[in-house]
Amino acid sequence: MSTAAVPVRHLDDRTVSELRQAAEQILAECGTSATTPRLLGKVAQTAAGFGDSLRHHCRPVDTADGLFVLRGLDVDDEAIGPTPAGWATAGDSGARHDIQLLLLATVMGNPLAWEGQQDGRFVHNIVPSPGHESEQTGASSAVLLSPHTEDAFHPGRAHLLMLGCLRNHDDIATTAASIRKARLADEDIALLTRPVVPILPDDAYAEAQGYAAEAPPPVPTLFAAEDGLTLRFDPAYTPLDEAHAPYRAAYRRLEAELARVSVAVSLAPGEVLVVDNDLVVHGRVPFRARYDGSDRWLKRASVRVPGRRSRPLAEAGEHGYGQAALEAHAR
Ligand SMILES: [Fe+2]
Repeated sequence: MSTAAVPVRHLDDRTVSELRQAAEQILAECGTSATTPRLLGKVAQTAAGFGDSLRHHCRPVDTADGLFVLRGLDVDDEAIGPTPAGWATAGDSGARHDIQLLLLATVMGNPLAWEGQQDGRFVHNIVPSPGHESEQTGASSAVLLSPHTEDAFHPGRAHLLMLGCLRNHDDIATTAASIRKARLADEDIALLTRPVVPILPDDAYAEAQGYAAEAPPPVPTLFAAEDGLTLRFDPAYTPLDEAHAPYRAAYRRLEAELARVSVAVSLAPGEVLVVDNDLVVHGRVPFRARYDGSDRWLKRASVRVPGRRSRPLAEAGEHGYGQAALEAHAR
């Protein structure tokens, strides 16, 4: 894994204060960053009024890295208070930053939430949580969070994943690997673009795991989009044993290639990592959580980008394991 430089977009001071003031005003009017129609309406209205500078910073990913870092947001380590001990108790901790991230997400596309995750909030808290150390979810710490597509099991998953850093005293790295940097044999691409095995819901979706109404649909791992390959990849939740040997071998070679091109991004407070969820798989290195209020604290937002053609059309017919994706703004 390398720590090669990733593309950085610096927000200027004026844009940063414009965002802060907008978020503070919305928070003052709504009193919470929890999902309400009033909050979503105000966010949409405010985001529509932002100027060209911010829009330019929020333009789509435009390199083979498949990601960029927005840098320069202000975070006051004291004012945000201690890192919550889990999403369930986080409530409105860092609420102004929730709204800021939601504003940025709205400039980039249509923010996405899940009925079955973190109370349907559009901005999630990613913090280590006691008892969840070894899970393959954002609440874990002691294990390597293996590289994956966010919400890979679902056809309504995000096109963009945003991770905003409030605190990261220990420089814990997020890992990211772009399919556009991987080198794969044509035969492997031909195999992996076939739907052979399903991707099952992850541990963050307790209800979806009991879903038994229909069989899990096999899905392709790779897709040849107009502008290059995209991927849908979550080995921890893929029953690869069900695939035939040549497919398993190709999958393992893809996994090795993603490891080879993986970069480590250690976010600093005020930085937002924006990952194209069709090009890049992300993960996290293991760390030891302290649970003393000083642990790493990220805010996560998911975005749908209307009109994208980066996925097989057949996905539209998948059941999504009974999970409903909620989009912030009606189109
Ligand atoms: Fe993730």
